Amino acid sequence: MQFKDKIVVVTGAGRGIGQEIARAFASQGAKVALISRSESSCGSAAEDINKTFPGSSTAYAIDIANHDAVQDVAKKIAAELGAVNILVNNAGVTRDGLLMRMKEEDWDTVLDTNLKGAFNTVKAFMRPLMKGENSRIINIASVIGLIGNAGQANYSASKAGLIGFTKAIARELAGRAVTCNAIAPGFITTDMTGELPDNVKEAIIGKIPLASFGNTSDIAETVTFLASPAARYITGQVLAVDGGMTM
Ligand code: NAI
Repeated sequence: MQFKDKIVVVTGAGRGIGQEIARAFASQGAKVALISRSESSCGSAAEDINKTFPGSSTAYAIDIANHDAVQDVAKKIAAELGAVNILVNNAGVTRDGLLMRMKEEDWDTVLDTNLKGAFNTVKAFMRPLMKGENSRIINIASVIGLIGNAGQANYSASKAGLIGFTKAIARELAGRAVTCNAIAPGFITTDMTGELPDNVKEAIIGKIPLASFGNTSDIAETVTFLASPAARYITGQVLAVDGGMTM
């Protein structure tokens, strides 16, 4: 129960990797605020976790790209749960397409969610994180932010930007002993990757030394490690959890 009484915020927790991260913290005693765009998805994700870990999880439905909405929810979380100790920026979207055909709104949606969303949440939760002890910020980037990918210029730029943001705030907040790290998942089995055709999945697996997609728990375990006291001396790093794909 190493996160007993810790207050954890996880964005994009309505399903997939985010829900698994929320569950992992709940299983170790934390009180978790699950943020996601739709009331129904984060509500049912929190309900599901509460079945196993009663009273651990509360849902907050907002669009993290909306600066004011994030400020408001931060006040609500402070009032309802208390001062936040751990922030996990996991919400992310894709709008894939070759640059030649990419629409301005595809660019804006991806950058606004994946990059500005993290700016919004860090701004909103910065004060309690700086005041607390052993506070953590963990950003879920992507291997695509490290190596690029044809058809994902918007997504690659957003995740590379998130990595730069991670390193900058790691330096800014180090004086307050807040660590800030990024995780770069490779291909993980979720609804996001479920949309890929089978032949594409097989081609990807051919490039992964461990020869399979990862599971959501592979990411959740890495997040809880980085959030734990054992990781107190790690900051400004990008940890690829990708079956060796980008070694
Ligand atoms: P998903 O699509 O299954 O879930 C994303 C969650 O984020 C949903 O709950 C959705 O409601 C929420 N969300 C999206 N936009 C939002 C917004 N504007 N405001 C609030 N919530 C919002 O995604 P998945 O696969 O679980 O991925 C989670 C994170 O991991 C994303 O940042 C993704 O880019 C990253 N990632 C995923 C990989 C994969 O293979 N699945 C690989 C590398 C990175």
